[in-house]
Amino acid sequence: MIEKALDHLVERLDGMAPTVALVLGSGLGGLVDQVEDARRISYAELPGFPRSGVSGHAGEVVAGHFAGTPVLMLSGRAHYYEHGNAAAMRPALEVLAGIGITQLILTNAAGSVDPEMGPGSVMLLTDHINFSGSNPLIGEPSDRRFVGLTEAYDAGLRKAIEKAAKATGTDLHKGVYMWFSGPCFETPAEIRMARIMGANAVGMSTVPEVILARFLGLRVAACSVITNLAAGMTGAELSHQETKDMAPLGGARLATILKRVFQDGLPENKV
Ligand code: HPA
Repeated sequence: MIEKALDHLVERLDGMAPTVALVLGSGLGGLVDQVEDARRISYAELPGFPRSGVSGHAGEVVAGHFAGTPVLMLSGRAHYYEHGNAAAMRPALEVLAGIGITQLILTNAAGSVDPEMGPGSVMLLTDHINFSGSNPLIGEPSDRRFVGLTEAYDAGLRKAIEKAAKATGTDLHKGVYMWFSGPCFETPAEIRMARIMGANAVGMSTVPEVILARFLGLRVAACSVITNLAAGMTGAELSHQETKDMAPLGGARLATILKRVFQDGLPENKV
């Protein structure tokens, strides 16, 4: 399955050899329109890639150049809450590693636990808390499953993102992302717990991909686009519609930052 997808992707890339991939969460899907010489490859063509059924998430790989750098953008991801399989992104990430991707930048929409980090904010993940009770490496038989996560979020990539935010005058928060399984939103009590536990944002994705990517030896960075203050913080009920409506606000900010990161050159791509 992996071999088939890998061969097909290599064929479709037609000599292009990106070393960096971006996973686009809600609000960032529009970034694929900024890819030059774009080749669009539907997940349906790639065995093992997820069939995402979440509205607001497409399902395609877009390869090309972003701000002059070869890149692979993944528009659409599998979420744990769709099927209870935390490893649903494993085949896709294995294919990326197989074609020579060494750096992975993940994006997502998230709720903020911090009243000072409102909707439209962008948060660079410094660390995460896996509160889902699951793990994508459960069942992995080799000793490689004992992945160290002390430095899960790559220092060089983080520095590049912080530098790009500064250079573009874009506000960038930093913090800890707490992974809840979803699909329901959290309760106010869970959000108070998250705050006490040291979380700054809460969401339903990204962490399993970070774990898998570290398992595969990729360098990882992740950014959240804040779509709402978390449950119980405003008195209003949360909804997926709000997530979709509000994501483009922070999404535009994050796009500005990421474009600059690619313009300036990613750490590994620098001579
Ligand atoms: N909780 C979990 N996931 C989310 C939220 C939230 O408040 N907002 C966007 N994704």
